Amino acid sequence: MVPARRPFVGGNWKMNTLRASAVELAQAIRRACDAPLPAPGGATEGAARCANGPERAEVVLFPPVPYLRDVAGVLAGSAIGVGAQDLSAEERGAFTGQVSAEMIRDSGGEWVIIGHSERRHGAGESDELCGRKLTRALGSELRTIFCVGETWEERSAGKAHEVNRRQLEAGFREVGAERLGEVVVAYEPVWAIGTGKTASASDAQEAHRSIREWLANRYDLRSASGVRILYGGSVNAANAAALFSEEDIDGGLIGGASLKAADFLAIVAACGATAKVER
Ligand code: PGA
Repeated sequence: MVPARRPFVGGNWKMNTLRASAVELAQAIRRACDAPLPAPGGATEGAARCANGPERAEVVLFPPVPYLRDVAGVLAGSAIGVGAQDLSAEERGAFTGQVSAEMIRDSGGEWVIIGHSERRHGAGESDELCGRKLTRALGSELRTIFCVGETWEERSAGKAHEVNRRQLEAGFREVGAERLGEVVVAYEPVWAIGTGKTASASDAQEAHRSIREWLANRYDLRSASGVRILYGGSVNAANAAALFSEEDIDGGLIGGASLKAADFLAIVAACGATAKVER
C-alpha cells in the first residue's frame, strides 16, 4: 500500500501575541480541532479537520518562544503540535540572546522553523548557517520546517529555481535519507510574505515540483515523494484551496492569517481534504 502525504498546516505567529492572547488563540484552535468531524455538508464541516487521522491535516503552532511553554500546556494531549520559530546552531554556552534546541524541547517544543526569510534576509543568516541549524535540530530530535525562497529580483532574473536549489543544497548537506521524514520543506517566495501578493497556484506548483525533483536527485524518488512541501506567502482562507489542490503542494505555512482562529481554521479545513498519494 502506498502511503499518502498527510496535509500539513503550520501557524507562524512571528513576534505577535502576548501571553493571554497566545493562550486564547491556542485554546480556540484546540477547541475546533478536538471537535468530532461533522458529516459532509454539516454547518461546521471542515472546521475540525485537524485532529488525528489521515483524512485530517496535521497542525503545528509556532508561538513566540516566551510563550512556548504556555501554548504547549494548552495543547497537551491534543493532536496539535507546537514549536519554535528559530533555534541556535550552537549547543550551549556564551551566545547571548540565542535559544538552544534543548531549551525548546525543555519548554515543550517538538518542532522548529529554520531558514525563514525573516531570518535569512531580515537577520542576515547564510545558507551555511541554516544548514548547521538543520543538523542541530535533527540531532536534537526536533522536527523541522526548512524554508527556502527567492526574492523578486532573483525571480525576475529567471533564477528562482537556482536560488531554491542552492538553499536546499546547503541546508541538506548533512541530512541522510533516513532523517528526511523529520523534515518538511516550505517554499516561501520572499516577495509574497506578508505582502498580500501570492504566487499563482501554477507558479507555486512549478517551484514545488522543482524542489521535489531536487530531493529525488539528492536522495531517491521514493524518499522525495514522501516529503511534504508547504507553500507560504500571503495564504488566506480565500486562496488556500486553489493552492492546496496542486499536485506537489501539501499544505501551508501561514503567517498573518494564523493570528485569527477562524481564518486559520478555514485554511486548515481547505487543506484537510487534500492528502496526496505517493506516486
Ligand atoms: P504571511 O507569512 O502568511 O503573513 O505572508 C508567511 C510566513 O512568513 O511564513
